[in-house]
Amino acid sequence: MSQKISLTRYLVEQQRVNGHIPAQLRLLLEVVARSCKGISQAVNKGALGGVLGAATTENVQGEVQKKLDIIANEVLIEANEWGGHLAAMASEEMDSIYAVPNRYPQGEYLLLFDPLDGSSNIDVNVSIGTIFSVLKKPDPAPGKAAHAVNEQDFLQPGSQQVAAGYCVYGPQTTLVLTVGNGVAMFTLDREQGSFVLTQENVQVPADTQEFAINMSNMRHWDEPVKRYIDECLQGKEGPRGKDFNMRWIASMVADVHRILTRGGIFMYPWDKREPNKPGKLRLMYEANPMSWLIEQAGGAATNGRERILDLQPGKLHERVSVVLGSKNEVELVTKYHNAL
Ligand code: AHG
Ligand code: MN
Ligand code: MN
Repeated sequence: MSQKISLTRYLVEQQRVNGHIPAQLRLLLEVVARSCKGISQAVNKGALGGVLGAATTENVQGEVQKKLDIIANEVLIEANEWGGHLAAMASEEMDSIYAVPNRYPQGEYLLLFDPLDGSSNIDVNVSIGTIFSVLKKPDPAPGKAAHAVNEQDFLQPGSQQVAAGYCVYGPQTTLVLTVGNGVAMFTLDREQGSFVLTQENVQVPADTQEFAINMSNMRHWDEPVKRYIDECLQGKEGPRGKDFNMRWIASMVADVHRILTRGGIFMYPWDKREPNKPGKLRLMYEANPMSWLIEQAGGAATNGRERILDLQPGKLHERVSVVLGSKNEVELVTKYHNAL
């Protein structure tokens, strides 16, 4: 019988072979995984645990928070603040950064998360998830003393991430992770209480016949997006010469999980509803971690014109247009944008 490989063993072996997961980072990833187990428990209980429905508060983006948004945020903060591996955290559900309190030792990492992605699906029992991204707190400039952690420390391009992943709470609870050495998937074994490696070296096929976009926004799209989708819809008879299928779960985690599993293209483009905003999704804790995972699996991710991981964030809750998934499709959409 083949032996099960736990997340702990996977991380230890990654460290042994590649030497690029320092002990602090390993601890951080284990604590994030443990938090996801806790969130998964709460999600599973649903109405029985009194976790469904809206809270009475709004987050910094002006969205009404769900009870689970707040619970998941608290689980992640409480689990991560005392271990000594972090300097600070940032979340979709907090206006500004959360520095590790003085009573705990400060570590060298910064953790960003979307504690509960797909909030509109919570109450209807459809897959939701947690997305996370890990950066290193920048070293002080030469000759300068170490400074107290601040928001500026977080404003690094996605190419600087040292780990990224998500946990999808669906029919199975699956943790998907990259530390820059490909993408691995772990399924939660509820009897053992541990994440077990179920797929390594995940690859996104370069071609696809499946797209994910919220079609109800079609009239607000920009020309290049309209052109791409219109050509997909023409199917075999159109310029693409093949039929396309459509999926839209409205949880980025679940849509990206499908793409990592069987290919596809996901788009949440800029549109004319809010012309002054670059898009709906947030760069630092949604687009960056997902883009790195997709690239690590051989796919591509752009904002329509540039590689997402190269973008310099200007603020913590910055939004961005997102096109990611199968390489050839993302390149085509990007070509249509750059042709203008
Ligand atoms: P969140 O629940 O964290 O605010 O994110 C929801 C996002 C994303 O997961 C999803 O792709 C998108 O919003 C769905 O948006 P629409 O409801 O506009 O389709
Ligand atoms: Mn989200
Ligand atoms: Mn969220």
